[in-house]
Amino acid sequence: MKKIVVLVSGGGTNLQALIDAQKAGEIQNGKITCVISSNKEAYALTRARENGIATRVLCRKDYKDVAAYSQAMVAALQEEQADLVVYAGFMTILDETVCQAFQYKMLNVHPSLIPSFCGKGFYGLHVHEAALEKGVKVTGATVHFVTEVCDGGPIILQKPVEVNQGDTPETLQRRVMEQAEWKILPQAVSLFCQDKIQVADGRVILL
Ligand code: GAR
Repeated sequence: MKKIVVLVSGGGTNLQALIDAQKAGEIQNGKITCVISSNKEAYALTRARENGIATRVLCRKDYKDVAAYSQAMVAALQEEQADLVVYAGFMTILDETVCQAFQYKMLNVHPSLIPSFCGKGFYGLHVHEAALEKGVKVTGATVHFVTEVCDGGPIILQKPVEVNQGDTPETLQRRVMEQAEWKILPQAVSLFCQDKIQVADGRVILL
């Protein structure tokens, strides 16, 4: 059984989707053993506690720089004996030491069809604002491995979602979450825990 550590910063609806999938038996060979938040006020922490999952808080402002914060994160993940690390709305920057320590063992969910609307500055509602500004008719979500390149790691799963006329960033965000993120994140986690994801030449092969 693989130990899954989930990193969060905010509301934690993607964490909730993982918890619900676990309860429904949809995460095969994996168990969420710890939730680490970069924000002590994050509602995601309440979701974890209500479900009997251990929590830790690692605030960026308690460390002098990104390197010190990243080192503390690696130490925490090693203490938790994480087999898989899931970024579920984790909004704090970590450096390459974390990616190297957990290479191809960290997944991120991003609220667009990468390579559109991703990279530095594209997070949360900003992603949907950019999609609406461009006028795309289809957007979606992506689950990918975390590497040194922001939102640039090998893509595991993607799911498209239609943009409706009159959408606001908030309505679009909600639809992308409901129709894509909350589905493909638990699927990708379950595939990982069953050793069904391989990376070759920087691309993912699903077994
Ligand atoms: C989600 O839409 C997630 O994809 C996004 O932030 C939201 C967090 O919501 N993540 C990023 O933009 C990372 N680049 P949640 O806390 O309710 O899961």
